[in-house]
Amino acid sequence: MGRGFFLTFEGLDGSGKTTQMRKLAAWLEARSEQIIVTRQPGGTRIGDRIRQLLLDSRTENLAARAELGLMFSDRAQAIAEVIAPALEAGRVVLCDRYTDSTEAYQGGGRELGSEVVLKLHDVMCGGLQPDLTILLLPDFAASLTRARRRNDRMTKGGTDENRFEREDEVFYRRVYEKYREIAARDVLRVAAIESDAAIDEIHQRIVGVVEERLALR
Ligand code: TYD
Repeated sequence: MGRGFFLTFEGLDGSGKTTQMRKLAAWLEARSEQIIVTRQPGGTRIGDRIRQLLLDSRTENLAARAELGLMFSDRAQAIAEVIAPALEAGRVVLCDRYTDSTEAYQGGGRELGSEVVLKLHDVMCGGLQPDLTILLLPDFAASLTRARRRNDRMTKGGTDENRFEREDEVFYRRVYEKYREIAARDVLRVAAIESDAAIDEIHQRIVGVVEERLALR
């Protein structure tokens, strides 16, 4: 699709993804790249409503497959409204989470398996794959501690977004293992950074990979 470049960020809650995305966005802008930054779930008006339903810890009793379907509904909307047009316009799309999150969280965490996720990806996303995925995998225990610390976080509007962050360690261990499985399966697309190095050092590594791939555009 298009002439742009589709770059996704993946990792557990508390993996430092948001910080690294922000730094990379600044680096890309300094290179005068035309970028669009978005996130999933969310990133569109409809997606923000789906996000609220998905992440609010007052959402009770949501069946795993219903959760899976909502993740893909959000994604289909984001592709139609934001991602596809931006790629067609030749932009660099920086997306916080994409189908790998669904495979890791719903496929791994919720134990729905990879197959159903990849099938839905084909149908709902037309198989649209990122050109590059940065997967941040710092030490499992450290990520978990950071995620727990954010557990009380409230967003500006007073809605809490902690439904996933309330899951137990066993759930997160399955998510983590599924991410590692994805990285091992898709070595060309996924650049896995399994490191607890300082923020700037990780940033330099990410820049190295991104620079190399952008040159191949
Ligand atoms: P978010 O606040 O974006 O998390 P973070 O800042 O840690 O990236 O919340 C997204 C949450 O939704 C996160 O816990 C992962 C979960 N999620 C899924 O379970 N499946 C998905 O397909 C996506 C996109 C997110």
